[in-house]
Amino acid sequence: AFDRFKMDLVYRPRRLRRTAPIRGLVRETELSPRQLIYPLFVTEGKSVRDHIDSMPGQFRLSTDELVRECEELYALGVGAVNLFGYSEEKDELATKSYDSDGLVQRAIRTIKSAVPDLCVQTDVALDPYTTHGHDGLVIDGEIVNDESVEVLCKMALSHAEAGADWIAPSDMMDGRIGAIRNALDVQGFSQVGILAYSAKYASSFYGPFRGALQSAPKSGNKKTYQMDPANIREALKEIALDLEEGADVVMIKPALCYLDVISRVREAFDAPVAAYNVSGEYAMVVAAAEKGWVDRDSAMMEMLLSIRRAGADMILTYFAKDAAALLRADYGSFR
Ligand code: PBG
Repeated sequence: AFDRFKMDLVYRPRRLRRTAPIRGLVRETELSPRQLIYPLFVTEGKSVRDHIDSMPGQFRLSTDELVRECEELYALGVGAVNLFGYSEEKDELATKSYDSDGLVQRAIRTIKSAVPDLCVQTDVALDPYTTHGHDGLVIDGEIVNDESVEVLCKMALSHAEAGADWIAPSDMMDGRIGAIRNALDVQGFSQVGILAYSAKYASSFYGPFRGALQSAPKSGNKKTYQMDPANIREALKEIALDLEEGADVVMIKPALCYLDVISRVREAFDAPVAAYNVSGEYAMVVAAAEKGWVDRDSAMMEMLLSIRRAGADMILTYFAKDAAALLRADYGSFR
């Protein structure tokens, strides 16, 4: 009888996993379309849907196609789009990056007139517009900082003038958040937000993206401005600096190898935290799924949920549209 009594006292965690509705009641983390941001690639032309081989299922879109895409995303409840320009007009000084009639600037205007409420964010960095493929200007073989920040400010202003809701600087130059905030405020764009790529690591997982934009650096690497994957204290320093300089949202990038960084940042700061589920992370799942080695949908959901569990409020992901569609179909409520 005593043994029987002891057995009854054993706590049985499996009780809370017994049925899907019970699992639903005790689920700690939620994923919603409104937390997802879809990166989109803009290209010149009309009716262009140019498939990106290194990122199966993703396309470079001309503005008309982009608008169609944005209408669908808005209807699905996706939180925002984040625009990247596929520029074939590259030069040493990235002059096309701040052209008021440039590719991204026109795309912003077109989207904003068709889907005014959709949050439109824009990438700010020079690499798609430079012949050398670096995020800043190169002078005598060196990626210079302050001269680059001046160009980044012009680029950010041109996006704000076109109607961007948020500017997202991904260049990792020092002091650019403060400089861009100031430039925006002086020109009357105090309502435009800044999503700062604050802890952006020099990662091998950007490979498919660089293929999509033909933006890989022609020489050298990005290690003098992007962070060493070994460091987490430095990430906290970068986040603190960007917040002091006026960032509205701070980002950690990539997401999956850096879940510990996301979690530490979430604990240490009150600001909204974003994470970028980058092209290499996307491509790995898609490639493994094509081989039949993982299930695409459940791997996608597990990744996104894990990034949320680590502490990210919002996630930039190439899965945004597919995940939103699945969530709308009530995936996850009875899993
Ligand atoms: C460039 C930029 C990169 C990404 C976003 N902005 C590539 C890089 O830093 O070389 C990567 C996004 C991805 O891999 O999905 N400033």
